[in-house]
Amino acid sequence: MCGIVGAVAQRDVIEILLEGLRRLEYRGYDSAGVAVLDAAHQPAPLQRLRRLGKVQALSDAAAEQGLAGGTGIAHTRWATHGEPSEANAHPHVSGDIAVVHNGIIENHEGLRRELQAEGFVFQSQTDTEVIAHLIARETAAGQPLLAAVKAVRKRLEGAYGMVAVNSQTPDRIVVARSGSPLVIGYGIGEHFVASDQLALLPVTRRFAFLEEGDVAEITRQSVEVFDLNDQPVVREARESSVEHDAGDKGEYRHYMLKEIYEQPQAITNTLEGRLLNGQLNLEALGDLSDVDSVQIIACGTSYHAGVTARYWIESLAGVACNVEIASEFRYRQPVIRPNTLLVTISQSGETADTLAALRQARAQGITKTLAICNVPGSSLVRESDMTLLTRAGAEIGVASTKAFTTQLAALLLLTAGLAERRADAAAVQQKIANALATLPGLIQQTLGMNEAIEKLAERFAEKHNALFLGRGDQYPIAMEGALKLKEISYIHAEAYAAGELKHGPLALIDAEMPIVVVAPHNDLVEKLKSNIEEVRARGGELYVFAGESAEISSADNMVVVPVPNCDDLIAPIVYTLPLQLLSYHVAVIKGTDVDQPRNLAKSVTVE
Ligand code: G6P
Repeated sequence: MCGIVGAVAQRDVIEILLEGLRRLEYRGYDSAGVAVLDAAHQPAPLQRLRRLGKVQALSDAAAEQGLAGGTGIAHTRWATHGEPSEANAHPHVSGDIAVVHNGIIENHEGLRRELQAEGFVFQSQTDTEVIAHLIARETAAGQPLLAAVKAVRKRLEGAYGMVAVNSQTPDRIVVARSGSPLVIGYGIGEHFVASDQLALLPVTRRFAFLEEGDVAEITRQSVEVFDLNDQPVVREARESSVEHDAGDKGEYRHYMLKEIYEQPQAITNTLEGRLLNGQLNLEALGDLSDVDSVQIIACGTSYHAGVTARYWIESLAGVACNVEIASEFRYRQPVIRPNTLLVTISQSGETADTLAALRQARAQGITKTLAICNVPGSSLVRESDMTLLTRAGAEIGVASTKAFTTQLAALLLLTAGLAERRADAAAVQQKIANALATLPGLIQQTLGMNEAIEKLAERFAEKHNALFLGRGDQYPIAMEGALKLKEISYIHAEAYAAGELKHGPLALIDAEMPIVVVAPHNDLVEKLKSNIEEVRARGGELYVFAGESAEISSADNMVVVPVPNCDDLIAPIVYTLPLQLLSYHVAVIKGTDVDQPRNLAKSVTVE
């Protein structure tokens, strides 16, 4: 989704801004733009450049035009209001003011009418342009940029992170945060701002995160932050531990493949210190003894992790568990039982709906909240009482892979913590510990299926639809498999609990519909075999990922791909891998943009 980078320095910042945008490319975008000012001149001419498409096009144009300046702002746009086009790309300019913005201004239509009535002319269809005109109206009336932004934010409804410059005062940038993250980077005699610290890692490792409602004025020498009540506040700068080279694809053709192959290590990292010599160490989870029920909230792939965890939490810990998509939870009036633990799951920790749902639950009186998250310092982590970091490392591919499997590993740890009150707690926890201990090795072994799956993928490339079936804790894995396939190969895919086949999807079965089944050798496998027969009897084309000992063999219209035997408990994690690899290879054959699929964003910071 949209990305922001800004800089104030003595040196030329154009390369810093463009490199920052490149490092945010993975988030998904359709156009890019930059505006720079030369602080040596007051006023400084505002040089703006925008391009539809990739950052490389912007970078080529910037080099051709010799764009340079010590103060600048830059943006990658993911269209919300107005089509992807150069005119709608940021920065938006009004007089001396240039603005980049993430998020959505919900009252933009009313503001647009107000400004048009005063003679302001709009050049774009975006909601962002109202911000540029509103600030320009204030500065034209004599307000300095900081005061102008403070006044304007009171008029804005919705979620935003924004950065503004004024060519009359080119030595400073002013930023405001409300709902969309912004981080300030500290250099020596230079300062930066970005929507994600990854963008700034080549220039600094010291970061301060702005809080909700903060406005900050940034010059080369100073950073002054004001809170929602306009009071000066200190947002402490800390050294970041995020890896510098997270953006490197290494020997892999795509980030997605690299991240699939990183899963044995990522899971080892998730378990480090939490599983020691075959014993669980759950201290970090704190006291869960008063938890009577669990409410999980998440979006996308993270939601599928939550649905899987419900099976574990209820069957292993004996604790009631409800799972809901954040965008639904936040807009209904859920009845939350006393002593409920609210668990949010998010790779980024910045997903707008998940954050809003957390705040909504807090407002309703939830007092115990846990974030299962991959990004330390993210908004979700900072706003939750407890955190279980997944430690997957930076995930660049838009389609989530290692973040998902590490979330599942973390959720098994949580299940073990919740099992504490059971009479047989020690036995349940040991069972979880034993299964987790085998996981990195098993994942490594399962990656050995890659070649077989690459071949299988050829059969999917021409298809327009696919059905994924699973039962029990494999149903959410089927959901995740279908999501992966549609996200990156653009093949329409749906998942069904296999028991639901007769209630509709059987009508879809014909030779053109591939049906993918996840079939570990568990206590539901006999039921699943009946479902497989129902499909075969109707001429469906089956691809079954089956446990080696499940006794399902290839036959007419049925390809069986063996998956290493594993403990039932961790089978959802193991069976995720072949489905990730299948969608990856189908996408490669189809020639889609695997890491940045069309219309999608890595971090969805608007609702
Ligand atoms: C987007 C991403 C998905 C991700 C979802 C939730 O849709 O493309 O991969 O699962 O957001 O993101 P989160 O960061 O909250 O896990």
